[in-house]
Amino acid sequence: MLDYTHVIDGLRGRKIVLGVSGGIAAYKAAELARALKRLGADVHAVLTEAGASFVTPLTFEALSGNRAWTALQEEGAKGGMPHIILGRGIDAILVAPASANFIARLATGFANDLLSTLCLARECPLFVAPAMNRQMWENPATQRNIATLAADGIAILGPAAGEQACGETGLGRMLEPDALCDALLAFFAPKLLAGRKVVLTAGPTFEAIDPVRGITNASSGKMGYALAAACARAGAEVVLVSGSVALPLPAGVQRVFATSALQMREEVFAAIPGADVFIAVAAVADYRPVETALHKIKKSGEPVHLEFVPNPDILAEVAALPQPPFCVGFAAESRDLDAYAEGKRRAKRLPMLVGNLLADGLGGDENTVVIYDDEGRHPLPRAPKAFVARQIVERIANLLPAN
Ligand code: PMT
Repeated sequence: MLDYTHVIDGLRGRKIVLGVSGGIAAYKAAELARALKRLGADVHAVLTEAGASFVTPLTFEALSGNRAWTALQEEGAKGGMPHIILGRGIDAILVAPASANFIARLATGFANDLLSTLCLARECPLFVAPAMNRQMWENPATQRNIATLAADGIAILGPAAGEQACGETGLGRMLEPDALCDALLAFFAPKLLAGRKVVLTAGPTFEAIDPVRGITNASSGKMGYALAAACARAGAEVVLVSGSVALPLPAGVQRVFATSALQMREEVFAAIPGADVFIAVAAVADYRPVETALHKIKKSGEPVHLEFVPNPDILAEVAALPQPPFCVGFAAESRDLDAYAEGKRRAKRLPMLVGNLLADGLGGDENTVVIYDDEGRHPLPRAPKAFVARQIVERIANLLPAN
């Protein structure tokens, strides 16, 4: 299922022309129109004749709330020229799906319908999401055309590999609507962390007792992944050290997995040189078994006694480096959030800590947090984790010492 809540309004006020050319992936363009609108965009669909034979303009009108266009000369358009009306104030054109035929026309500057005319007459960024059969994609003519578009400064999004409508498998599938939305969100996001390197931890750790058992916690990784995505959109180089979770990799993020606290510590210290910011979102197990049994512990009917030793505190160790990055901690508490969170911030000498109540933050899609820093406490309203993440990034960017 698509997660349209990943950013609430990242495209608010943006006028986006959604170009739809002919191809079976046109059905996904309807989902895309909806997703863009939910992100706040003012969506105007323009279909080629072939595109309109797959999905009707009416579908896009219903989803976007705007008239959908097909022909160069349309009734009701000013002077019969919709490209004049539509062309004004466009923030971006996204052609999805872009067929091999449409890409060829774009590469040669052939403007024989409304969409190609708009693309040729544009004064805004153009994004193209190819969708076609694997052999058409691999054909040298298509590859030449794609290289021409890239050289012309047009952003090529995808294609993805996988099963195709024709039954073949390979490169040529249109990127999913949420990946296309991500590309636009990243393009329009203020680059508050440009030139910065951010290292994050996310998710739970798993401390093995034997080959099949261990102790862990209920962290889903959603808060940490949302923050990693927000940092990447803000222009940072991002390394995400992730516990074992099954979340998709956010665009522009380099991910390394770490199962136990000791592995997480090792990966963090491998990534930390050159980092400007370290954000510890992971719910790290405070203890691990003294020993991990080599073989599965058999049931004997008798009580089992396990001995645990404390894990290293990764955040405290990073914050204690001679020249630490700007360190941001998290604290999930079941009560007395202010006292415990601020206590942890001071104990670990952190410039910033984000507190959340367990009932709110753990596992869900939304969170209610309070940011603690040297200027006091700053409560944020309950919101989807991506939205909370964006506000945390804004606060970090404000407090971060200049380069
Ligand atoms: O993953 P989700 O389901 O989205 O849930 C998100 C979350 C609730 C797990 C997250 O928002 C959160 O609050 N994470 C911190 C959990 C916590 O209470 O950590 P702590 O109090 O044990 O540790 C405080 C800080 O030190 C944290 O930044 C933690 O990452 C860090 N730490 C703790 C122990 C340790 N050995 N190493 C650490 O780096």
